Amino acid sequence: MKTASIRAGLAAVLLAGAAVTVEAHDALTTSVNWSQTVSRIVYERCASCHRDGGTAFSLTTYAEARPWAVAIRDEIFARTMPPWGAVKGFGEFRNDRAMSPSQMNLMVSWIEGGAPEGDPENVPELPEFPPESPPAPEPASVVRNGATLENAIRVDGLFPRDIPDGGSYPIVAELPDGRVEPLVWLYEYRNDYGHAFLLETPLELPAGTVIRGIPAGSSLALMPRPAGPDPGD
Ligand code: HEC
Repeated sequence: MKTASIRAGLAAVLLAGAAVTVEAHDALTTSVNWSQTVSRIVYERCASCHRDGGTAFSLTTYAEARPWAVAIRDEIFARTMPPWGAVKGFGEFRNDRAMSPSQMNLMVSWIEGGAPEGDPENVPELPEFPPESPPAPEPASVVRNGATLENAIRVDGLFPRDIPDGGSYPIVAELPDGRVEPLVWLYEYRNDYGHAFLLETPLELPAGTVIRGIPAGSSLALMPRPAGPDPGD
């Protein structure tokens, strides 16, 4: 369902983009501008990495983003930015940063329409970005392939470490009662995009659970649910 509607959205985006290109090349043909709209999307979906002090070149000002407009459009069509590094639908994650079809539409109209700036007064303030560094879980919860959990753990998130770039690794938990729970299917994951996969719902793994699918030489940190009341995102 979700994938189908994203595809439909993307097809609409492609059509809209093609029509505008034929008619207008670089003339300004869009009411979507950086200051009012695009900056907000970039701050929400891209700036956690693309900012001064982030893991990639900054895209937080018009002057910085404008020269990248065509590359940004290519990344949107290829759906490679924002990078996620896992197959959708295998596990559910609350920090998935994918753009919505309407956000993709707005970004592409902006770019195809000549990427206007608009009134700089309208640019929102850059949000604060908490460092998304690897968590410091208990040593006992960093597992390698085939590891058997000695203690039960309530898993809140997963952080892959030292994953070979670009592979496809479905990782599962085999419970002692024989059930198999999907954890995350790493796909074209890159360590320099490194981020946690925060579970939509915490997962109870009893003692005796075996973790499988982690590539050789890599590990997976099982981030425990912090004690105390639900933070409630
Ligand atoms: C999780 C971090 C992260 C997020 C979020 C992210 N990017 Fe990136 N992006 C990167 C990194 C790292 C690179 C550099 C890749 C490299 O050096 O090859 C990159 C590269 C790019 C490039 C250059 C690609 C090229 O032509 O070489 C573009 C354009 C881009 N990102 C756009 C975006 C946009 C637009 C968004 C938001 C919709 C976004 N990125 C979100 C990490 C991120």
